[in-house]
Amino acid sequence: MSREEGLATPVCVRDVERLGTQLLPRASLDYYRSGAGEEQTLRNNREAFRRLRIRPRVLRDVSIRDLTTTALRKKVAVPFGIAPTAMHRLAHPDGEVAVARAAERMGAVFILSTLSTSSLEEIAEGAPRATKWFQLYIYKNRSVTQNLVMRAERLGYEALVLTVDAPLFGIRWADARNKFHLPPHLKLANFTEPEESDGVRDRSDKGSQLQAYVTDLFDQSLTWDGISWLKSITKLPIILKGILTKEDVEEALKYDISGIIVSNHGARQVDGFPATIEALPEIVQAVDGRCEVYLDGGVTQGTDVFKALALGARMVFFGRPALWGLAYNGEDGVKTVLDILRNEFDLTLALTGCASIGDIKKEMVVPASYYSLL
Ligand code: FNR
Repeated sequence: MSREEGLATPVCVRDVERLGTQLLPRASLDYYRSGAGEEQTLRNNREAFRRLRIRPRVLRDVSIRDLTTTALRKKVAVPFGIAPTAMHRLAHPDGEVAVARAAERMGAVFILSTLSTSSLEEIAEGAPRATKWFQLYIYKNRSVTQNLVMRAERLGYEALVLTVDAPLFGIRWADARNKFHLPPHLKLANFTEPEESDGVRDRSDKGSQLQAYVTDLFDQSLTWDGISWLKSITKLPIILKGILTKEDVEEALKYDISGIIVSNHGARQVDGFPATIEALPEIVQAVDGRCEVYLDGGVTQGTDVFKALALGARMVFFGRPALWGLAYNGEDGVKTVLDILRNEFDLTLALTGCASIGDIKKEMVVPASYYSLL
């Protein structure tokens, strides 16, 4: 193999990012990559993982390792899955179907975004055996949301992930400069009415057209009552995505929800929110076992998965790494990302003396300050 070929074969998620981002048109890359404001939170989502240290144990039998866990009482092959991100066809013509198929091959959870460019139906048909959850935004026109919920239920999606941190979208400078919009050959595929399906272009003469779409169509008056409404129209388990405080945990648990995703929306909403791994211990403590807790934001290595699990997450999700994999090489590119993370996580287990996820203990992950004796 030549050096050039060697460089083209990704060995880590960072390599996939380098290869995938090279292939993306500028506006799509900016949309995928950006965080809010000057992107302090975006950087901190990664840096906060780096501030943690792993305390390994040795001389334990790690000859056979079990990476499986359960989410909502269903067995999954790995404790990580794919977070909902919008508009995958900007990265590759196979779009969300390719990503769902890669997740299906791995046995990982796939969460489909409301704002997808492949429909609920296309995913159900293209990846029939994948564990699929559906991410929900609540539209001002409740019948639009109700229609999505009914279809998700009928098509075998196993949970609804209600995103609660986005009544409006944060300001992502690059998208504002680019006047980000959906190109003419793409639609938001879950909708039939042009207002919802074609609405991410020509809305406003300034800024991101997606931001304008959200301002016009999402329900900014939503409160906790919205969860009661959702429960009245579906039997599916409900997971709240985007909770960062113990106060909101207390509210959430009044509504018999099944899970919480500790998330800052990929640092795309408010610059200055905590890194998600920083917020995790507060949430885990407040939940105290009353529902499942997951995390997303900044996960790019197997050691990140290990750290989040040690601090009490049941599972983690990643958004951008799947998009880089999709841009790099479609379904196989996403599978490459999943394989890299699986291998890294498996090795981290072995080298910390863990044969299974149950062996990961809280005291195995500490802040860097633990080691500063001076
Ligand atoms: C997102 N995210 C997101 N969340 C959601 O609930 N619905 C959505 O449609 C989207 N769309 C979306 C698009 C893009 C391009 C990004 C980067 C993110 C947030 C997403 O679910 C998740 O919280 C973050 O992506 C996690 O951070 P990482 O893994 O990208 O660092």
